[in-house]
Amino acid sequence: MYQADIEKAVAHYKALLESQVERAEKMNQASAPEKKEKTVIGVVGGDGIGPIITLQAQRALEALLKDEIAAGKIELRAIDGLTIENRLAVNKAVPDDVLAAIKECDVLLKGPTTTPSGGEQLESANVALRRELDLYANVRPVSVPEEGIDWMFFRENTEGEYTLGSKGIEIPGLLTMDFKVTTVAGTRRIARAAFEFARKNGKNHVAIVTKSNIMKKTDGMFSILCREIAAEYPEIQADEYFIDIMSANLLKPNMRSQLQVFVMPNLYGDIITDEAAQLQGGVGTAGSANIGDRYAMFEAIHGSAPRMIARGMGDYANPESILRAAVMLLQHIGMPDKAAKLTAAIEAAAQIAPITGTKEGSTCAQYGDALVQALAE
Ligand code: IPM
Ligand code: MG
Repeated sequence: MYQADIEKAVAHYKALLESQVERAEKMNQASAPEKKEKTVIGVVGGDGIGPIITLQAQRALEALLKDEIAAGKIELRAIDGLTIENRLAVNKAVPDDVLAAIKECDVLLKGPTTTPSGGEQLESANVALRRELDLYANVRPVSVPEEGIDWMFFRENTEGEYTLGSKGIEIPGLLTMDFKVTTVAGTRRIARAAFEFARKNGKNHVAIVTKSNIMKKTDGMFSILCREIAAEYPEIQADEYFIDIMSANLLKPNMRSQLQVFVMPNLYGDIITDEAAQLQGGVGTAGSANIGDRYAMFEAIHGSAPRMIARGMGDYANPESILRAAVMLLQHIGMPDKAAKLTAAIEAAAQIAPITGTKEGSTCAQYGDALVQALAE
């Protein structure tokens, strides 16, 4: 009775498999990017509260990088048009002209973009950019010094449930099926990134987080390949944990202070980094780096807060997360001193112009004024 549906689904699945084989083969042939004289930082506002918070981060970067900008070593380039209205109008996760402008940059500071959920709607702009720019490592730090927490998450960022998340199969009225993809090269490169970070930063433990007892093929291979890479780092202890118990461990005081570096497939990383950020004070306090070999993108970990805009409260949005992302951007382009300066200014500004998300607190722009002031001191 469902023969026609099944045949249609099989043809669809064949095309997906071919596309993923092609992607995996391309990854094997990747070459190192050339070094450039000038670094172009694209500033992408996004939508909702995105342009409001990103503007303050842009002001901070302009102040911090004044000399480099004047010397032509760095360019800050505003990229408009990554809004939900434009994306819906052309029915593309990232409109072609916006993508072309983004690809002319080297690193990006990106505000949140609204993700339509379910049905036949648009793919998330984040997911599309991570794929288009091959930003395979989602790096998210979480720190709560008084609890002994200093964590760095390496979330695989282009594979798993996300690769084909908008390309599932449906037998209408009967069932739906999505796919999870894990490639050898894709796993090795995220594992390598996590262990290299651990080695360079004097960490001696990496937690490999999977559900390989259930997702036997994909997580099973992720686990085996991470252990293979771990063998090249004998000074680092690598242990595998399942995602469910790891979610509990993050809440266990004696356990969580032992954890240092984490590596995991995409969806688990999505979930657990929100949990971890909450321990630090909320998802709004965390920064997020999306790193590839050619491009890197730094973004606020939270969404575009459409409800805040609808209530007319957009001007009271907190720019802390995008500013933490800007700190990571500065570290990534080899400016640790400026990153430290920005971190100190973020903390100073929070004292001078505290944001509460209500009209009793400061506006985002007032906070930005305090920030620029703190940077000038
Ligand atoms: C994140 C976000 C995104 C994700 C959404 C906005 C698509 O939750 O960066 O963690 O699921 O990766
Ligand atoms: Mg998330």
